[in-house]
Amino acid sequence: MSNSNIIEASNLTKTYRKGNVGEVKAVDDASLEVKEGEFLTIFGPSGSGKTTLLNLIGGLDKPTKGKVTLDGLELSKLNEAKLVKVRREKVGFVFQAFNLIPTFSALENVQVALAPTSMPKNEQLDRAVELLELVGLKQRINHLPAELSAGEQQRVAIARAFANKPKVLLLDEPTGNLDTKTGKEILKMCHKASKDQGQTVVAVTHAGYVKSYTNRLLFMRDGKLFSEMPKDEIQEEEY
Ligand SMILES: Nc1ncnc2c1ncn2[C@@H]1O[C@H](COP(=O)(O)OP(=O)(O)O)[C@@H](O)[C@H]1O
Ligand SMILES: [Mg+2]
Repeated sequence: MSNSNIIEASNLTKTYRKGNVGEVKAVDDASLEVKEGEFLTIFGPSGSGKTTLLNLIGGLDKPTKGKVTLDGLELSKLNEAKLVKVRREKVGFVFQAFNLIPTFSALENVQVALAPTSMPKNEQLDRAVELLELVGLKQRINHLPAELSAGEQQRVAIARAFANKPKVLLLDEPTGNLDTKTGKEILKMCHKASKDQGQTVVAVTHAGYVKSYTNRLLFMRDGKLFSEMPKDEIQEEEY
């Protein structure tokens, strides 16, 4: 882990207007620094603002207040074209719902992430195969998502997220649709891959077992970040 911050988020607030019930502060004055190479996990119940926070950090969404600096670039100062480039080159996303293209094979789903790069096509193919080997899917590269188990689909999504060697990986409930055993394997794999490649990972989750696979744990409640588990709730069943 290096000493410099690859992510700096200061006083982030995201307010949504919710029909006639008024405003919801999905993220409420959250500040966060993540060191290069760190594996940070943010643990919080459903609705606590985890997805919104990740989307702000990854430049998929804009804060109502506050700012995000990613690898030295202040996101709010970038126009949409620059932002697309930053997301493509510096950030890998993994979503709970995998978001694979159903008519594409595992291999094609990974190749898609490499298509906009200047890498020659034959190298793209080699790299996609290598990534699928890395996630243990060498024997499954020509399978469609529907022919793969949930755990295997998530491995494809992770291979895709790793494709461009992004400096930052953002994992949104990466184990949310997986059983505990598969979820642990996936986390272990992300941990190893990010360590081997020096990547920074921010994972958000409500699965308690993540604490064994992380360098640092933060907690989120009602849009706010805490360094310790808030004591005001029944926590046994979730942690
Ligand atoms: N696009 C949106 N419009 C209105 N409200 C939203 C929107 N996205 C999220 N919210 C609200 O913001 C809060 C936090 O949501 P979210 O970030 O998805 O939490 P989590 O990922 O922890 O489940 C919730 O109350 C949710 O209903
Ligand atoms: Mg969410």
